Amino acid sequence: MDLSVKIGRLKLKNPVTVASGTFGYAEEFKELVNLEGLGAIITKTITKEPRLGNAAPRLAETSSGMLNAIGLQNEGLDNFLKVKLPKLKKIGTKIIVSVSANSAQEFIYCVKQLEDSGVEAIELNLSCPNIKYAKLAKTNKAKARIFAQVAGDTYTLVNALAKKTNTVLIAKLSPNVTDITEIALAAQKAGADALSLVNTFSAMAIDIDTHRPRLANVSGGLSGPAIKPIAVKMVYDVAQAVKIPIIGMGGIMNADDAIEFIIAGAAAVSVGTANFVNPGISMEVIEGIKNYCKKKKLKNIKQLIGTLKR
Ligand SMILES: Cc1cc2nc3c(=O)[nH]c(=O)nc-3n(C[C@H](O)[C@H](O)[C@H](O)COP(=O)(O)O)c2cc1C
Repeated sequence: MDLSVKIGRLKLKNPVTVASGTFGYAEEFKELVNLEGLGAIITKTITKEPRLGNAAPRLAETSSGMLNAIGLQNEGLDNFLKVKLPKLKKIGTKIIVSVSANSAQEFIYCVKQLEDSGVEAIELNLSCPNIKYAKLAKTNKAKARIFAQVAGDTYTLVNALAKKTNTVLIAKLSPNVTDITEIALAAQKAGADALSLVNTFSAMAIDIDTHRPRLANVSGGLSGPAIKPIAVKMVYDVAQAVKIPIIGMGGIMNADDAIEFIIAGAAAVSVGTANFVNPGISMEVIEGIKNYCKKKKLKNIKQLIGTLKR
């Protein structure tokens, strides 16, 4: 059975990846997961300079979901290149490095450094709901905002990067927009090789005894089963609009959830919040997809992508 899929030029042995920020830099999971068996590992987002992230509490459980406002805590690009990347390269599966930055210049700097260090694929985190980005496009002077919330900003940034690198560029989009297909089309037109969707949904929760927000950041991003049906629709809508492959995510807790995303049009999937519940879940998702293909007599997983019947 052929479970391999292509994300741009990147060939994954199977369609199951782990979502940025929910799997650290894989080292943390090496006793619990056969890392080599994963389709790809998407790292926690890194930035040029180290970041301490937001104040605690940064996580809160909600009905069928999880709120987080980590604020892109990470040890910075230099540390990643020196300490984390050499270990990741030894794992024997594809590594997709997630990057975020405050400006196009900073993005270009990080992407070039990663490319020079042999990184094959980069997920551009254009969509973290928990930090404010400096604005890029001159047309949007009103306030700092997330690149993936404005089609023009997405186009300008991705286009600037696509011109400067041969690395596979995957644009990670925000669900916190009016029409995600408009942003997806802008990323495709700008030269993105693939799309990841979705990042977390802007959300908040309140402690009614103290009247305080349950996150120190007041609001954060909602993930987990609560968002899955909305994420599936976004993947479906975008898959109808674009030609580039999609990595679908949002509330995948088991193989059936992953298969739903693939039928909706995702070429690959990312398992996120589920890793906190069961660190070995990604392996179970791969096994479940295999069994499903066997049951349905599919010789190739590609026969399943975008097969919604209407
Ligand atoms: C604790 C936590 C940290 C996250 N950190 C990042 C991050 O650094 N970069 C990023 O692009 N997405 C980050 N995400 C978003 C996930 O990668 C994913 O897009 C989202 O959680 C939806 O998938 P899920 O419902 O399966 O978790 C984070 C999510 C969680 C729960």
